[in-house]
Amino acid sequence: MVAEVARTPAPGAPAPVRSLTVTVLGAGYVGLVSGACLAELGHHVTVTEIDERRLGALRSGMVPIRERGLDDIVDRQVAAGLLRFEDARTVDVTKSDVVMVAVGTPSQADGRVELGHVEAAVRQIARGNPRALVVIKSTVPPGTCDRMQALARAEGGTGVRVVSNPEFLREGRAVQDFMQPDRVVIGARDAADAAIVEQLYAPLDASVLHCSPEEAELSKYAANSLLAARISFINEMSAIADRIGADITRVSSIVGSDARIGPAFLGAGLGWGGSCFPKDVHGLARVAEDLGLAAPMLTATIEANLRQRQRALGAILELVGARPDARVALLGLAFKPETDDVRESPAVWLAHELHERGIAVRATDPWALANAERVGPRVTYTLDPMRAVDGADVTVLATEWPEFVALDWPEVARRMRGDAVLDARNALPSDLLRSSGLVYRSLGRDVLGR
Ligand code: UDX
Repeated sequence: MVAEVARTPAPGAPAPVRSLTVTVLGAGYVGLVSGACLAELGHHVTVTEIDERRLGALRSGMVPIRERGLDDIVDRQVAAGLLRFEDARTVDVTKSDVVMVAVGTPSQADGRVELGHVEAAVRQIARGNPRALVVIKSTVPPGTCDRMQALARAEGGTGVRVVSNPEFLREGRAVQDFMQPDRVVIGARDAADAAIVEQLYAPLDASVLHCSPEEAELSKYAANSLLAARISFINEMSAIADRIGADITRVSSIVGSDARIGPAFLGAGLGWGGSCFPKDVHGLARVAEDLGLAAPMLTATIEANLRQRQRALGAILELVGARPDARVALLGLAFKPETDDVRESPAVWLAHELHERGIAVRATDPWALANAERVGPRVTYTLDPMRAVDGADVTVLATEWPEFVALDWPEVARRMRGDAVLDARNALPSDLLRSSGLVYRSLGRDVLGR
C-alpha cells in the first residue's frame, strides 16, 4: 500500500503533494484501475461510465472486473470519500484539475483504431470546461492528442490542453503495474501541464519520462508491438525446435540469459491474444500504411501469431485422426491465466475451429467460463477439468492456469478415452505425463517424441 498523500506534514517533512481533483472518463480495465489507484494515492477521483448497468454495479460496490487488489482499493477509497462513480453523460468537469480519458479504442474491421469514443469524450470535456487539462490514457495512434486539442478548441474549449499519458497495465496484475510502474510516461507540449500530470503520480516516486505527445503515443504502440514480436519470434523458433529435436524452453532461457535480450516474453506456445496486442499491432501497422511506409515486422508478427495457432490446430487434428466421434478436452479459455478475459483468446479460437470441424469439445476454465459461453462456440462448458477430460481422445492445455498444470495426470490418463495431450503452452510436467502412459505433444518441446 503506497503512503497516501500527506495532508498534515510532520516538521521538516517534504511539502505534501497537492491532492488533485481528477475525473476519469471510462470505467473499463484502464479507467477503473487508474481511477481507483489515483484515489489510493490521495487524489479526489470521479470515475464515469456511460453504461447504466456497469455504473449501477459500481455504485452498489460491485467491481465488474477481476483484478487482484482492486476490490479492496475501491471499497477503501469509496468509504474514504476519495472515489465516486458518476454518469458520464452528466458529470461536471468544471472543477477537475485533470480530466483523464480512458475510453475504449477498439479496432475497426480493417485494423485501424476507432477513435469515436475518444472524440466524443473530448467534445464533452471542451463544452464542460473550456480550460480543461485533458490526459489521454487510452491507447491512441500518434498525432491523436494534437488532433484532439484542435477538436476541443474548435468546440469552444479555447484553453483546453491535451497530454498523452499511456498506461502499461497487464490484465491480472493491473493494480501492481499501476502502483509499481517501470516508468510513468508524460507526453506534453507545455512544461506546466506536464508538471500537473506528474503530480498525479508523485506518491509513487516512480521514474517519470517526459516527451512530446506523439513520442508517448508511439512508445505505447511500439512497446506492445515489440512484446508481441518477441512472442511471435520465439514461436517461429519453436517450429524449428520441433523439427530438429530441440527443447524450445531451454533455447528460450539461453537466449533470454543475454542481458541485452532478457528472459521476459520469450514463452513459446499458442501465442498472444487479449484486448491489447491484437488491436495495437494491427493499429500500428495501419498507421505505417497510412504514412506510406512498409512495416513488414508488424505484419510478420501478426502472421506468425496466426501460423502458431494453425500449427496447434494441425497437431490436434493429427492426434484426433479420423475418429468420426472425436472428443477434445480444452483446458483453458481465457487469453492468459489470472484473468477472465477471453477477447482474442487463442483458446477460444481453437474451440471454434474444432467445433466447426464437427469435433465435440468440452472446455473448462476457472474464471473465464461465463465470458466464453457468451462469445464462444456452442460446445460443452464445465468448471470441472476432470469432467472435461472424461472420455476425451485428446486433451489440450490452451491456457496455463496453475490448477491445470497441477492436475492429477495419472487420473487424467485413466479418465480419457485416448492418450494424447497437446501442451500448447509448454507448461506441463512432460515426464509425469509420459510416465502416466500419456502421449505428450507440445509446441517446441516434443524433442522428437523422446
Ligand atoms: C499487454 C501488455 O503487457 C501491457 O503492458 C499493455 O498495457 C496491455 O497489453 P496484456 O494484454 O494484459 O498486457 O497481457 P500480457 O501479459 O502482455 O500477455 C499478452 C499475450 O501474450 C497473452 O495472450 C499471453 O498468453 C501471451 N504471452 C505472453 C505469450 O504467449 N508468451 C509470453 O512469454 C508472454
